[in-house]
Amino acid sequence: MKLKYSILISFLSCFVFGQNNSFQPGKLWKDNDGKHINAHGGGVIFVDGTYYWYGEFKTEGKGGNTALKGVSCYSSKDLYNWYNEGIVLKVEEDPKSEITKGCIMERPKVVFNKKTGKYIMWFHLELKGQGYDAAKAAVAISDSPKGPFVYKKSYRPNKGVWPIGFKDELKSASADERNLKSWSPEWITAIQNGMLVRRDFKKGQMARDMTVYVDDNDKGYLIHSSEENLTLHISELTDDYLDFTEKWTRMAPAGHNEAPVILKKDGIYYMITSGCTGWEPNEARSFKSSSIWGPWESIGNPCIGKDAELTFHSQSTYIFPVQGKKDQFVFMADRWKPDNPIDGTYVWLPVTIKDEKPVLKWFDEWNLNVFSEN
Ligand code: GAL
Repeated sequence: MKLKYSILISFLSCFVFGQNNSFQPGKLWKDNDGKHINAHGGGVIFVDGTYYWYGEFKTEGKGGNTALKGVSCYSSKDLYNWYNEGIVLKVEEDPKSEITKGCIMERPKVVFNKKTGKYIMWFHLELKGQGYDAAKAAVAISDSPKGPFVYKKSYRPNKGVWPIGFKDELKSASADERNLKSWSPEWITAIQNGMLVRRDFKKGQMARDMTVYVDDNDKGYLIHSSEENLTLHISELTDDYLDFTEKWTRMAPAGHNEAPVILKKDGIYYMITSGCTGWEPNEARSFKSSSIWGPWESIGNPCIGKDAELTFHSQSTYIFPVQGKKDQFVFMADRWKPDNPIDGTYVWLPVTIKDEKPVLKWFDEWNLNVFSEN
């Protein structure tokens, strides 16, 4: 009854005042200018009473997934109504710039660094004209959540550094490992034993789909798909969040995980990921651990109900806590539209933890009251 009443109010205010009072996953989501929000693969932070949503600014048609403008930002007081703050990290005209127009900038995530007072943006960077081969993590910095963000540099993380606990006998390659047939049992074992970590040891490890996580003790981590998207890496950031400390670990080796998102509740870390099917949706996975460094236990698909096996036709991109509500989290995902990327929509759902497992349940429409009703 309560939910019906609030949906009625939301319906009325939407038509009478042009305001949004609910989330409608997968539908067009208009900003204050009446335009569909353009912030894909995004992340959200909360600063002094305002939420900021950063994302990939997509354009129409073929090529619309490359960065022709940069990273966009929207602000909101209530999570339903978003004001367009414009492009906060702009692509550059200089063809020599790593973020020249036409490069690929994906999954931007912004965090605040308490020590330096700066806003730090990490994103997945692919250099123009090189497809997804560069596989880099890049960082930009700003004095304000509204930008402008200034581009600093890109990394292949953990160059010349082995992950924690990597056995000495695994540090040199066996003569024939490069010739193993992909997905043969021997090849899977070789991947699990670090074949690609060894391959990329000098150059630095790959970084594609990624998120940034700041723990309760303010330590920051980049969590990135590495080793040709076969293994996730968790890399600790320096105190200013601009570089890596050289402490890192591998998670779910050969598990083929992308799109990592993370939350912590009652001292347990929960991660949700996707499989690897490009822009097509697949079945989400979840993991838990009592330490960021693992061991991470695989605990299955967090989605329940219709289309749970396709993550409700979407792919994870971030989880953020709702302010002023204890342990209430919003899961953000994208419904990609590779034929016309600007049309991609957003699937935001409440994520709850039940019996130490994250649960994602579909709602056609919902609002923040669902949290108090649980
Ligand atoms: C997806 C990934 C997206 C984008 C896309 C390119 O798997 O999650 O961020 O990189 O592949 O095909």
